Amino acid sequence: MTSFPTIARIFEVGARDGLQNEKEQIPTNIKLELIDRLVDAGVTALEAGAFVSPKWVPQMADTKDIMEKLSRKEAVSYAVLTPNMKGFDGAVAGNADEILLFTAASEQFNQKNINCSIDESFERFAPVVDAAKAANMPFRVSVSCSLGSPFGEEITPAQVASVAKRAYALGAYEISIADTIGVGTPVLTRQVLEAVANEIPVDAISVHLHDTYGQALANILAALELGINKIDSSVAGLGGCPYAPGATGNVATEDVLYMLEGMGIDTGIDLEKMVRTAWFISGFLGRPPVSSVAKALKNKFNIDDSTSC
Ligand code: HMG
Ligand code: MG
Repeated sequence: MTSFPTIARIFEVGARDGLQNEKEQIPTNIKLELIDRLVDAGVTALEAGAFVSPKWVPQMADTKDIMEKLSRKEAVSYAVLTPNMKGFDGAVAGNADEILLFTAASEQFNQKNINCSIDESFERFAPVVDAAKAANMPFRVSVSCSLGSPFGEEITPAQVASVAKRAYALGAYEISIADTIGVGTPVLTRQVLEAVANEIPVDAISVHLHDTYGQALANILAALELGINKIDSSVAGLGGCPYAPGATGNVATEDVLYMLEGMGIDTGIDLEKMVRTAWFISGFLGRPPVSSVAKALKNKFNIDDSTSC
């Protein structure tokens, strides 16, 4: 019988990936309340925002404000995305605990997302990595389009593994293998993760799975079977990438928690509080969470529905 990890680390990306694609600007105080609620639920690692061009991603333009106004908890790592030195300077000024650098296994996606090739993204990383090391700032690297590209290019497990290996060699503590458009299925996920695990330690691999085709939980199970227990997820299943046509939300944190709890895998996060947080942000956005678990537990937890406003 397969043995699974007994603990898992959730990296909550709702305040960044979750909201970056929203058309209406979300007020800073709502983002701050969202972050507070996530932390109160027991989240210990979260993306608070992104120091990227406000012309490219207007929704993240208030990241400086967010970082200034956060009511921080000692045990929590507040991360931000930084594509270049300008972003890194923002991260340092904002006292971020860690940063996420991002590249892709797809050349076309990288061009659309950060306006450079995969090789050029590594050239851009170099000064950021030097500065991060000098400042003792831990960093993760995300590899987008690891299970498929929105532009129809073939992405092979070997390609993903090669980008992950290069990224890990920079000194990243973790490589986040991302299914940007949620197209992966479990056997492919296993093949990609096995290829990556041939190049870098299993402990340094996390998965970041958008749930566009409803495959994310099955793919997380494939990751757990390989001993990979670091999962990015987004409360209420919010999310999407403005530069990945067709990409919908990340796997919902509450769906992941329900599955892990059922498997006896501890995350330290309170499922009821996460479900309440999902309905809080969904209430603000005026639409129900996409999460099946949030919907199933709404009545049990007597949660008022204000999502139709
Ligand atoms: P560029 O045009 O090549 O860069 O963009 P540039 O250096 O020529 O700068 C252009 C303008 O942006 C200048 O301003 C810079 O000052 C400004 P202007 O002179 O035109 O007024 N700028 C910045 N402003 C604020 N913060 C910065 C910054 N850098 C430059 N850090 C750049 C290159 C990377 C900046 C741009 O392409 C960009 O910001 N892209 C946004 C990418 C992004 O945020 N995508 C979504 C997040 S990634 C994601 O969702 C995937 C993930 O979830 C995993 C997955 O699911 O796959 C992580
Ligand atoms: Mg994403």
